[in-house]
Amino acid sequence: MGDECVVVTGASGYIGSHIVANLLLKGKKVRATVRDSQDRERVQHLKEMKISDEGSLEIVEMDLFDGDSVDRAIDGATDVIHTAAVVIVRSRNPQEKIVDPSVVGTKNIISAIEKSGTVERFVHTSSTAAIRPENWEDGQILTTGTFANDATLEQNPYGLAKYSAEMIVRNWHKEKNGVKKPRMVTIHPCMVFGPPLSPRHLRGSLSIIMMLVNRELPLLLPMQISIVDVRDVAEAHVRALTMGENGGRYLTVAGEMMWSDISKILKRKYPKRRWPFRQLPYYFALIVCAFHPRVSVSWAKRHLKNKLYWDATPAERDMGMKWKSIDETLIDTIPNILNNNWQK
Ligand SMILES: NC(=O)c1ccc[n+]([C@@H]2O[C@H](COP(=O)([O-])OP(=O)(O)OC[C@H]3O[C@@H](n4cnc5c(N)ncnc54)[C@H](OP(=O)(O)O)[C@@H]3O)[C@@H](O)[C@H]2O)c1
Repeated sequence: MGDECVVVTGASGYIGSHIVANLLLKGKKVRATVRDSQDRERVQHLKEMKISDEGSLEIVEMDLFDGDSVDRAIDGATDVIHTAAVVIVRSRNPQEKIVDPSVVGTKNIISAIEKSGTVERFVHTSSTAAIRPENWEDGQILTTGTFANDATLEQNPYGLAKYSAEMIVRNWHKEKNGVKKPRMVTIHPCMVFGPPLSPRHLRGSLSIIMMLVNRELPLLLPMQISIVDVRDVAEAHVRALTMGENGGRYLTVAGEMMWSDISKILKRKYPKRRWPFRQLPYYFALIVCAFHPRVSVSWAKRHLKNKLYWDATPAERDMGMKWKSIDETLIDTIPNILNNNWQK
């Protein structure tokens, strides 16, 4: 790969760690950004990753809000994979805690790419949340043809953050001309499961699995979840550096399953643990959501019982992606969680 250098932002995180591992195994030179390089829990697993051939790992400190640190992280890089964001769906201060890291952060990333003049390829981690409009019909199949352009700070701050950040990337790319225009692709994972590499208790998508591990709910909400394996998401990001359409938008989705069925699979594989698997009837679920601090009735009416599907065939066609089975993904998620004592 010569002097090529791939910057991975959010390298300490769930998806970022797997992207770093994937690149190092392919013998790439990786510059991994973290907020605190002295935090052992956030960096040790990166330092222990297997490196093939001419590959190398450099760990640098970068905060998305500190433009100078973003400029330094991207300086001289040929490739940027931008995963860093805050992955929570609710906050008392959604603008500051959820939207700003994505929006201000992505603006700073684009500005740093512009200043460097060396970046040839840029992959931005978006989400199904940037695609899904507020209103959809039961049984609908969404493609990359829609945008979450009706997401609001009050109803869906995470969707707003992901949609807004993607639009910053797309508008910049559309307006940019000339020979130095980098190739750009956005990747849109649904709910990501699979083995966490970080020993630190991650609070993003794995919270759904942790609710089962910790038996936080005696009865499960009647909710269908679209799932993709974190290892496939990492592979899609790496392939997107050189594969797929320039300017492309690629969904990464392996399939879907009811929450209660996820628990049944885990119960079959790990029978010594106790798993909740009974499902709450729909109308009771609405009442529970009305009193729950993390969900609302309007969210429940949209998401419970109704089924939404995603078309990930473009990633299969253009980037040769094949998805791990959901069963394998779920089963592989648990050992690292238990070994690292995330359970209560
Ligand atoms: N997990 C999913 O199901 C899923 C689905 C679709 C899309 N995504 C997207 O995938 C990306 C990664 O998600 P993830 O699940 O890997 O989340 P994660 O484990 O929480 O990782 C997020 C990373 O972003 C970093 N970060 C947060 N704020 C930052 C800031 N101000 N400056 C620099 N770095 C910052 C975190 O660093 P620290 O370690 O310092 O906190 C962490 O490394 C996000 O863009 C997310 O929206 C995730």
